[in-house]
Amino acid sequence: MATPCRIRRLLVLLAAVAVAASHPAHEFCAAAGGGGGGAGGCGGGGDGTRILIKGGTMVNAHRAEEADVYIEDGVVVAVRPNIPVGDDNVKVIDATGKYVMPGGIDPHTHLEMEFMGTVTIDDFYSGHAAALAGGTTMHIDFVIPVNGNLTAGLESYKHKAEKSAMDYGFHMAITKWNDEVSREMEVMVKEHGINSFKFFMAYKGSLMVTDDLLLQGLQKCKSLGALAMVHAENGDAVAEGQQRMIDLGITGPEGHALSRPPVLEGEATSRAIRLAKFVNTPLYVVHVMSTDAMEEIAKAKREGQRVIGEPVVSGLVLDDSWLWDPDFATASKYVMSPPIREAGHNKALQAALSSGILQEDSQWRKW
Ligand SMILES: *[C@@H]1O[C@H](CO)[C@@H](O)[C@H](O)[C@H]1NC(C)=O
Ligand SMILES: [Zn+2]
Repeated sequence: MATPCRIRRLLVLLAAVAVAASHPAHEFCAAAGGGGGGAGGCGGGGDGTRILIKGGTMVNAHRAEEADVYIEDGVVVAVRPNIPVGDDNVKVIDATGKYVMPGGIDPHTHLEMEFMGTVTIDDFYSGHAAALAGGTTMHIDFVIPVNGNLTAGLESYKHKAEKSAMDYGFHMAITKWNDEVSREMEVMVKEHGINSFKFFMAYKGSLMVTDDLLLQGLQKCKSLGALAMVHAENGDAVAEGQQRMIDLGITGPEGHALSRPPVLEGEATSRAIRLAKFVNTPLYVVHVMSTDAMEEIAKAKREGQRVIGEPVVSGLVLDDSWLWDPDFATASKYVMSPPIREAGHNKALQAALSSGILQEDSQWRKW
């Protein structure tokens, strides 16, 4: 299967950076001069692509240092200062005055997703092109099952991804529950390398799962060693809030945020955290948009529970003022769920990110 292999290869690449950095004497090929024994001396079986990135500041998770990076067959084999160019077949990239860092991994995308009668505008080509331009070299999208059928969903997403231009992996959404879905989750983990499943506590009438389904899903994830993810908003209360807005005649983009306030995100986050604790399985809360949700995560983490809170850029930097723009086309661009909150939440989320309450995806990868 192409997808899990790609994920593994990327992890190897990142791991190789760490290994090579902590063992500068690591064996490598002719580009490093001596030691490796010339062409064919290492990396056997690969396509022989060799790249040397020279003169930059290499930035890793643990530190930044002046170092060259030598890559063979897509794997970083050496990171250290002044690696000599010992071979004409090495492509040398001059990075003087630049930072050299691993590509970003975006763990949450929805390319070409069909939802609510429309389709997200970026597909697996345009989305990838935009990501690569910004330094993101891998992403994980969410397979949406077809009428609850996971296999059919995966087939559909593999088809969408045929035009991909970079590495990708898949999470899978679970949108209904029966024995077939439970069996298919196992197939996804064991045969397709999909090991994270997302449950929507919102979107009543379409994607939403109720507590009994969520509980069974959490248990199944636990038994498979898979990671459970939740979109945490109280879908029943959101439906109620939407009706309130309609009754009040508030049908513009501002009504979106008013119909689903932070308290509903806090409630669902807290409920999911407690159910995960009851089942004793780790939980990944996607797109944390409010202080209410973030504080529930902070509390659970203080108590030693394995909970990951995912920040998103829009929640970190924007506030809801754009939703009030009188121009519909402008205001509607700021509609997302959970909604972008009023000013203040964003600053609190930034602080939570810098202190580790919310975290980058690299943290959960270890599980
Ligand atoms: C799910 O979809 C797959 C692939 O399209 C199909 O083979 C299978 O029969 C479907 N399962 C059910 C229960 O309909
Ligand atoms: Zn999402």
